[in-house]
Amino acid sequence: MFVVAALFLIGLQGPPSAPVNTCVSCHLEAGDDLAAPIAKVADDVHGKRGFSCVHCHGGDAGEADMDKAMDPRKGFVGKPAPKQIPVICGKCHSNADTMKRFNPGIRVDQEAEYRTSMHGKRLAQGDVKAATCVSCHGNHGIRAVSDPNAPVFPTHVAETCGRCHSDAAYMKPYGIPTDQAAKYKASVHADALFKMQDLSAPTCNDCHGNHGATPPGTASVANVCGTCHARQSELFGAGPHKSAFDTMGVGECLACHGNHEVFRPTDAFIGTGNKAICIKCHNQGEPGYETAATIRQDLLTLSERIAGADSVLERAARAGMEVSRARFELTEANHDLTNARVLIHSFSAPGVEKATGPALAIADKARQAGENALKEWTFRRKGLAVSLLVIALAIVSVYLKIRQIEAGS
Ligand code: HEC
Ligand code: HEC
Ligand code: HEC
Ligand code: HEC
Ligand code: HEC
Ligand code: HEC
Ligand code: HEC
Ligand code: HEC
Ligand code: HEC
Repeated sequence: MFVVAALFLIGLQGPPSAPVNTCVSCHLEAGDDLAAPIAKVADDVHGKRGFSCVHCHGGDAGEADMDKAMDPRKGFVGKPAPKQIPVICGKCHSNADTMKRFNPGIRVDQEAEYRTSMHGKRLAQGDVKAATCVSCHGNHGIRAVSDPNAPVFPTHVAETCGRCHSDAAYMKPYGIPTDQAAKYKASVHADALFKMQDLSAPTCNDCHGNHGATPPGTASVANVCGTCHARQSELFGAGPHKSAFDTMGVGECLACHGNHEVFRPTDAFIGTGNKAICIKCHNQGEPGYETAATIRQDLLTLSERIAGADSVLERAARAGMEVSRARFELTEANHDLTNARVLIHSFSAPGVEKATGPALAIADKARQAGENALKEWTFRRKGLAVSLLVIALAIVSVYLKIRQIEAGS
């Protein structure tokens, strides 16, 4: 307790600026590994705020003598053991008074959350392989989390976690899979993050939490996905699977989409075909099977009618007919089709038909408009042919008349 209080006094005094910082001067002279932290710390979030070695390692930066400077009685810890690390970082980060002076908005629950995580629990049991603060943030050269080069920046998180979780030898004692990062990198979420640069797409910490890293349990999984996919989650919650999956202990969204390898589904994912997920659990004759077949057919019919209408309108437009209004209306049917794919999560045919029904009417109307335009075009072409014929006949008769007049004169 005394040590912690003493460190706080040092911390609150700010950087020991006036006298020489002996930690720095002697370590610079010693060179190599002992000097390496100096440049890194100067450049990190802590160095920029005026913190230095003593704020984490303790000791006395005013003493030129090595033993006096690095005196454990002055709170000195050399290279901290893994178990000491959350305590050292938490000294400031768990203290609202200290932290709010620097950044009123910053959270002060990292250490507390960490203690509830599998990492924190393992560490408390003496397991030094579990991640501590420095496994994810680094020790010297810690960057702001918004810095694109920080190891916890969204585009680097999978790599940071994967350093341990993808290392089969390292993770061997635990008997858990080591394919999370590999599967994640092949997912629709990683595509959105890396290819589309969509920073709202989830990476490891968005589903597992930044500090409370535990796998979400069966019941909370829909909530994790639902933080971003709110409509699907709401429909799922009101549908037939919610209570059934809960009692079976089947992960909610996971039963169909998986967790790390979530891929972009197509319409073939619903129905009774060999790519359909529904037949994993529903046999022919069951209401679930019939519903799957009906919804699949509804989607298929709508897609085909939209495509049909589109191709008629396309031909009409190429012929130079004005069909932009009908084409615009057809985009509405496409929106409904997208909406129908969300409504699938009600797992009810009438639920999906709320979107496909009106969309079919729009598609049929658009097709009719296209066909009318094409008829009009055919009619005009015939009309043109008749007028050309009339003109040609007129020219011929004028010519003959002239010839007749010439011959007569
Ligand atoms: C007069 C020179 C000198 C001064 C002053 C000094 N150190 Fe050191 N420090 C060393 C040497 C030499 C070593 C390596 C040998 C050892 O561990 O005893 C070392 C080791 C360390 C280590 C690594 C310990 C380990 O277990 O790997 C840390 C951390 C450290 N010093 C921090 C500090 C801090 C913080 C201060 C200021 C409060 C400080 N030192 C002041 C010379 C010095
Ligand atoms: C933000 C806290 C923090 C600050 C500031 C800090 N250190 Fe460290 N240092 C640590 C931690 C934590 C470790 C243990 C790292 C580990 O286990 O990976 C460490 C390890 C070390 C080591 C052991 C070798 C190594 O690199 O792992 C030395 C030497 C050292 N620090 C010197 C310094 C010196 C000199 C300064 C000031 C220029 C300094 N540290 C500033 C947290 C800090
Ligand atoms: C398993 C990896 C991991 C561990 C262990 C970890 N962090 Fe973090 N930390 C993160 C991630 C990821 C973020 C969030 C980055 C973001 O917001 O995009 C973060 C954010 C932070 C932030 C910024 C404020 C906030 O809460 O968002 C602080 C400060 C922080 N961590 C300190 C700590 C401290 C102190 C410890 C140890 C008690 C620790 N972290 C342990 C991964 C980790
Ligand atoms: C002496 C107090 C102190 C200690 C000890 C300390 N920090 Fe900090 N830390 C701060 C302050 C103050 C900030 C700056 C907040 C700001 O500028 O927004 C900060 C910033 C950070 C940030 C960036 C937060 C952000 O919002 O981007 C991370 C990450 C972080 N610290 C991690 C650590 C880790 C890991 C340790 C232990 C190895 C540690 N800190 C030890 C005081 C401390
Ligand atoms: C320093 C290595 C290391 C790093 C880095 C690391 N972990 Fe871990 N993690 C472990 C170890 C060791 C365990 C304990 C495994 C166990 O007990 O099953 C663990 C456990 C977990 C668990 C619980 C697994 C279970 O058994 O149910 C989750 C979830 C987890 N980590 C997620 C993450 C995430 C997310 C990150 C990155 C933000 C991360 N870890 C970074 C080493 C690490
Ligand atoms: C879209 C959300 C999501 C993302 C992104 C995600 N996870 Fe998971 N993860 C889960 C869910 C859900 C579970 C629990 C599965 C269960 O309970 O059956 C899980 C389980 C785990 C486990 C326990 C062992 C296992 O494989 O079942 C570990 C370890 C883990 N994830 C690490 C990671 C790491 C590392 C990353 C990043 C490379 C990551 N996760 C990305 C949702 C996610
Ligand atoms: C942090 C927000 C977030 C979380 C959490 C999240 N997702 Fe996503 N998800 C996205 C984003 C962003 C996309 C990319 C949208 C796109 O490219 O169309 C996406 C895409 C998807 C897609 C493909 C969508 C399409 O249009 O084809 C599916 C399926 C999906 N997520 C399922 C899940 C499941 C299941 C979970 C939980 C295990 C989950 N998501 C967790 C944000 C999230
Ligand atoms: C019983 C299986 C099943 C469950 C459970 C399930 N989905 Fe789906 N999901 C599907 C099917 C089938 C599609 C394919 C739609 C299409 O493209 O025709 C789909 C499509 C999606 C899509 C992309 C299309 C869209 O915009 O809706 C997202 C995102 C999605 N699901 C999220 C979730 C979330 C979040 C949960 C959990 C709350 C969940 N799903 C639960 C079967 C399921
Ligand atoms: C992981 C297994 C599983 C998958 C995959 C699955 N279901 Fe189900 N479904 C169930 C269970 C269990 C019930 C509740 C018991 C029952 O009525 O059969 C249920 C119930 C239903 C019901 C209500 C049946 C009734 O009796 O009222 C419908 C409709 C349904 N599912 C449709 C679907 C559709 C469509 C798909 C594919 C997109 C699908 N299910 C995928 C397991 C599953």
